[in-house]
Amino acid sequence: MKADEVRKVGVIGAGIMGSGIIEVIARSGQEVVFVEVSDEKVARGQGAVEKSTGRAVEKGKLDADERGAILGRITGGTDLSEVADADLVIEAATEDLDIKLELFQQLDDLTREEVVLATNTSSLPIAELASKTSRPDKVIGMHFFNPPPVLKLLEVIRGLQTSDETLEFARAYGERIGKTTVLSKDRAGFIVNFLLVPYLNSAVQMFDDGVATKEDIDTAVHLGLAHPMGPLTLLDLIGLDTALYISNVLYDEFKDPLYAAPTLLKRMVAAGYLGRKSGRGFYDYTSGEQK
Ligand code: 3HC
Repeated sequence: MKADEVRKVGVIGAGIMGSGIIEVIARSGQEVVFVEVSDEKVARGQGAVEKSTGRAVEKGKLDADERGAILGRITGGTDLSEVADADLVIEAATEDLDIKLELFQQLDDLTREEVVLATNTSSLPIAELASKTSRPDKVIGMHFFNPPPVLKLLEVIRGLQTSDETLEFARAYGERIGKTTVLSKDRAGFIVNFLLVPYLNSAVQMFDDGVATKEDIDTAVHLGLAHPMGPLTLLDLIGLDTALYISNVLYDEFKDPLYAAPTLLKRMVAAGYLGRKSGRGFYDYTSGEQK
């Protein structure tokens, strides 16, 4: 199949990344069917797209009728077989190898054999996910950046067995939905997270060591390096649990202390301080301290 023939895309998971990916695809005109693990999470995913597109209408960036058409292209449910007739599936489930391995096995059984199975994993091996399928040549990484409707980058990750045709398809589909694609080998962290994780971990360590306040660390990077947001604010956006998971995967792969998660990050995750999504991370999102 050619990228411009894709009419319907299945998205697995509608959390921070999944809901953003759903919005990107529906905005670019394809039907999206997404799957979540509970009705509550289906409603939350749908709500996230409604909120995001509603804001765009309020700001005059999107026509109300067009918003209606975008939302009309999206359906969600809890049964994985809803993606059975999709032309492409993008998995954006929780960053957990066992969950993803099982999903790839099921997706392989459910979908047509020519369908490309992509994963939005930020660090897990594409080759390992591919090994659970009968079509390892059609398994590929398509890694979006948070928030997907805003950030233009799509990392495309080629597994050991990914075919040229699948690679060409993923890049062309990425361009079709408005992204700029870059290609990475199947190595933990790919391009961006390999660079980002040591930086974020250093910022957490710096804060824990009392070198500067969280506000000053963030302001320093925001104004001194012209990043849109400082590292601690960014960690709150990414989700501290996700950041910890990625850090652990990188450490497992390279055994380099550069990737070792700082103690404070581990303790914050244990305490449930996960960032924006839980209402509290480095900043408190319930009391107006929000950045
Ligand atoms: N959905 C849709 N649109 C959104 C949005 C969302 N979730 N969040 C912000 N926007 C839009 C706004 O509507 C606004 O649009 P406009 O310019 O057309 O009016 C525009 O983005 C800017 O938003 P705001 O004015 O509200 O706020 P900011 O200017 O502060 O931008 C930000 C917010 C886009 C989040 C910006 O701060 C940013 O780009 N931060 C860096 C994010 C980053 O580094 N992400 C990468 C994380 S790493 C990753 O994802 C990999 C993973 O594996 C960990």
